[in-house]
Amino acid sequence: MFRFFSRPAPLVLALAVFTCIPVLTALVQVFQIPFGTYPEDSARLAVAPFAWFVHVLAGVTFGIIGPVQFVRALRHRFGALHRVSGRIFVLSGVILGISGLSLLAQVTSQRTPLVDIARGLFGLALLIALALAMAAIRDRDFLRHRAWAIRAYAIGMGLGAVALVFFPIYIITGQPPNGVASDILFVASWVLTIVFAEVVLRYSSHSPPEFPHENRQPQRL
Ligand code: HEM
Repeated sequence: MFRFFSRPAPLVLALAVFTCIPVLTALVQVFQIPFGTYPEDSARLAVAPFAWFVHVLAGVTFGIIGPVQFVRALRHRFGALHRVSGRIFVLSGVILGISGLSLLAQVTSQRTPLVDIARGLFGLALLIALALAMAAIRDRDFLRHRAWAIRAYAIGMGLGAVALVFFPIYIITGQPPNGVASDILFVASWVLTIVFAEVVLRYSSHSPPEFPHENRQPQRL
């Protein structure tokens, strides 16, 4: 299964399915926040309107550009475009992480400290992974760059797994799951996404190099 998901087409398709709930939720809020038409459940985030707005905007951008960046054929054919969209991806990831941490600091949490600690750690981890992805590409180490970019995406979009687990519960019961058990499930789903990305990376590192000039060793220009 992991080998299957390490191939480009299934990986991108799986990512699109996986991330659609948080991306769509964030997209809807991009329009709701300026008009104040957000749902009652989310109204408490309005104490930090700027952080909330840039957070959902960055989440949509990061969520949509990520899978496109991982399409090998596009990287080959449109290298310049990959570099431009890569910068937008990194910028949106940085804004996502910083605004997430800012929301964490400003909004009164409705969850146990477990979730808040996890959000804080994942927010920081996202910023670190993006910095390492950029450092790797400066060293012309394509494999390390790809690995850190995938890790950054998994950290940022760990919410996808959370949504896949929580959304059906919300649809069936009419209210979001609450309590310690649901918070453990929340963090576990996020962590599992990161573990899944790590396993996919391990399998894909056995596949042949993408570029003829790309080898397994770091290169410097
Ligand atoms: C490491 C990454 C992330 C961190 C640390 C983070 C952090 C946060 C925090 C602290 C909140 C406020 C939660 C609350 O008090 O209820 C929040 C809300 C939100 N985040 Fe993120 N987030 C991250 C990634 C994302 C991504 C990738 C998306 C979308 C693609 C996203 C979409 C949202 C949305 C839509 C809300 C509002 C939820 C609501 O209406 O209750 N977040 N985030």
